[in-house]
Amino acid sequence: MTTRLNTHLLYLILSLLCSLEWEIANGFEWPFLKKTDGPARNWQGKWFPQSPDKAVDDNPLVDYSGGAHHDLSNPKHGINMGIPSPHCDDGKVNITLDWDNSPINYTCYENKRAYLPNLNVHPIIHCDPIPKAYVAPHRCMDTPIFYEDSIPTYGTHRPLWPKYGEYLFLPKQRWIHNLEHGAVVMLYHPCANGLEIQLLKKLVKGCLYRHAITPYTLLPPERPFALVAWGNRLEMSKVVPKLVINFIRNMALKAPEQKSEDGQFDFGLIEHSKVVSDQDDNNLCPNFK
Ligand SMILES: *[C@@H]1O[C@H](CO)[C@@H](O)[C@H](O)[C@H]1NC(C)=O
Ligand SMILES: *[C@@H]1O[C@H](CO)[C@@H](O)[C@H](O)[C@H]1NC(C)=O
Repeated sequence: MTTRLNTHLLYLILSLLCSLEWEIANGFEWPFLKKTDGPARNWQGKWFPQSPDKAVDDNPLVDYSGGAHHDLSNPKHGINMGIPSPHCDDGKVNITLDWDNSPINYTCYENKRAYLPNLNVHPIIHCDPIPKAYVAPHRCMDTPIFYEDSIPTYGTHRPLWPKYGEYLFLPKQRWIHNLEHGAVVMLYHPCANGLEIQLLKKLVKGCLYRHAITPYTLLPPERPFALVAWGNRLEMSKVVPKLVINFIRNMALKAPEQKSEDGQFDFGLIEHSKVVSDQDDNNLCPNFK
């Protein structure tokens, strides 16, 4: 009981700090926090998402406007989204660039005991203060995309976004695009406790249509579960339903490009999402208190 209460309190405090940090980064002046020049505030479209000491943009928009594939050109993202093209991304060409189909990414080869839920390991809410002006570039399947963070909450991604649902494995270069459309992505380590995995899947599938679920071996043994939304993530050792529902209600559908339209990419899709309240998820987690 105490652990549950503490968890809720912690969530409240963390999400408050989180929004504060975000507000600071976006220019909000809190009366007693004299932090008026957060690095992200005066962003000029150069270094983000790298560190501010980078004066050059090493991840510039691709310019296709004059070339043979000008139909793929998009002023905002460099490359249009959602239009399959064998010259860039059709969900088939060069997809091994993001994942080589290895079973290592969805199978447990380690000692499962290290991944057992532990009530003494508190959950973590992490947030990235993303400048409002930031627009994630798109990259074709001729370019690898790397992330600084092992569990990224935003960033450059592929033009085709995945259909919503559960995957055998889905690369981050894909699911980040779902985040940008307001989705919640569930990540679990394949060595995590089976009952906990089932519980979290049930909660996510019962909360919203706009979800993606995939195993993810980059999660550490102490917290083998993560829920990711644009700019935010929750990392857990033990699945606490109330916390999960709070996170989804607060963080889902808050991304820069709200869009419930289904994706085009479906390699590894096991189960397509079902509509929960309606296609736009107007009522999040309707069947949970
Ligand atoms: C697959 O799993 C291995 C081992 O954990 C990891 O190093 C690699 O980055 C993973 N690949 C992807 C695409 O996540
Ligand atoms: C696929 O990979 C090859 C080899 O790297 C590259 O030349 C080609 O442009 C890529 N195709 C697409 C559509 O990105």
